[in-house]
Amino acid sequence: MSGRTAERRTGGPAERTSGGTARLFVNAAQVVTCAGPPRARRGSEMNDAGVRTDVGVAVVGDRIAEVDSVAALRERFPGASEFDCRGGVLTPGLVDSHTHGIFGRPRYEEQEMRAAGLDYMEIARRGGGIHSSVRDLRAQSEDTLIVLARARLRRLASFGTTTIELKSGYGLTLEDELKTLRVIARLAAELPMRIVPTFLGAHEIPLEHRVSDAARRGYIETLIHEMIPAVASQRLATFADVFCEQGVYSPEESRAILDAARDAGMLLKLHADELAPSGGAELAASLGATSADHLAAVSDEGIDALASAPTVATLLPGTMLFLGKSRHAPARRFIDAGVPVALASDFNPGTSPTPNLPLVLMLGVSQLRLSVAEAMTAATVNGAAALALADRVGQIAPGYSADLALFEIADVRELPYWYGDNRCVASFVCGKPCHTSNLDIT
Ligand code: NIG
Ligand code: FE
Repeated sequence: MSGRTAERRTGGPAERTSGGTARLFVNAAQVVTCAGPPRARRGSEMNDAGVRTDVGVAVVGDRIAEVDSVAALRERFPGASEFDCRGGVLTPGLVDSHTHGIFGRPRYEEQEMRAAGLDYMEIARRGGGIHSSVRDLRAQSEDTLIVLARARLRRLASFGTTTIELKSGYGLTLEDELKTLRVIARLAAELPMRIVPTFLGAHEIPLEHRVSDAARRGYIETLIHEMIPAVASQRLATFADVFCEQGVYSPEESRAILDAARDAGMLLKLHADELAPSGGAELAASLGATSADHLAAVSDEGIDALASAPTVATLLPGTMLFLGKSRHAPARRFIDAGVPVALASDFNPGTSPTPNLPLVLMLGVSQLRLSVAEAMTAATVNGAAALALADRVGQIAPGYSADLALFEIADVRELPYWYGDNRCVASFVCGKPCHTSNLDIT
């Protein structure tokens, strides 16, 4: 798989359809299709990642056209160009459905503070944590934030991620939240990755609004009556999210904010039960949120509530690892209860500064006790469902967007095995190159 990949034509004019030129992905040791219904997978469905050998993938224009034997594809698409997968494993482009990728400086100093015994919430109470990133982001220009985020998002893509959800939430004023969301919109227009914007103006109560109960209520009023309408009218966010946690937003406050967001046309997410159980999962379920995220401290009632909701449980084991916690979200209990599980990086400067989604898959297997197939489903189909994209992203199946990742491994079980190593050699979004390592890909 090393060296440069040559494109070759099978002869004759390249077949053109209204969608564009055909290209065949050939010589993959395995194609992990994750093919199936266009919705989140639950229970035993998660354990089938649709691993196929001896097949290629035909892409026409920006879509997957067919998965079949290479001989059959060559017959069906005479003259198609070919991309040589060189014995690697081809998967749907990975979906990172929870990140806070727009920030200024990294917060490496907090790591030693935690090692010395201060916990995450104590650091926040002292004005660090999210507050520190807020002070910093407010001082940065839109252009500087673009430069910083561009490089970071390319790192996420270099590990095989092709879809990235990006939250605002380090601005916490109307102006700074809009600035962040404009940065996301500009990056979405410029970068090859598929980017999904989320408004997280309720990431913290800003320090200047923590001085009194009235000031705190004032910020929530601003969120509901100024920020959400502005974000919605400028169409800057698909989702709205709230950090529902003891000491941050209560379930009642979270509900009021998310009700307003839904009324303004946004889909809903919730940071729920990350550090302590506070009824977040139950709230996400009762709101019909698209996802409830974190859930390391979810209650039994929360699991039951999610089991009868459409909500995806997005688990973020990198965060618990980085915070030095031994507890993890009860992934097996979610799966046994029929709750669809997604895995994401939570990429952010405070609790999970890793761009490496395959590393999170490793944690999914080693800490959350998922099978490799379940972990793959969690980072493809179910990640797409957590972004309301399950009908077009996350599968290598006819009609799906040609979002693909190629890994320099011979068996998909190697992906969560060589942990920390980057085996991604190429990725594509809508059939166009997204990340390329040393391959000559056009
Ligand atoms: O998902 N919990 C809230 N938000 C982030 C952390 C953000 C930060 O510490 O900067 C999270 O862990
Ligand atoms: Fe988060």
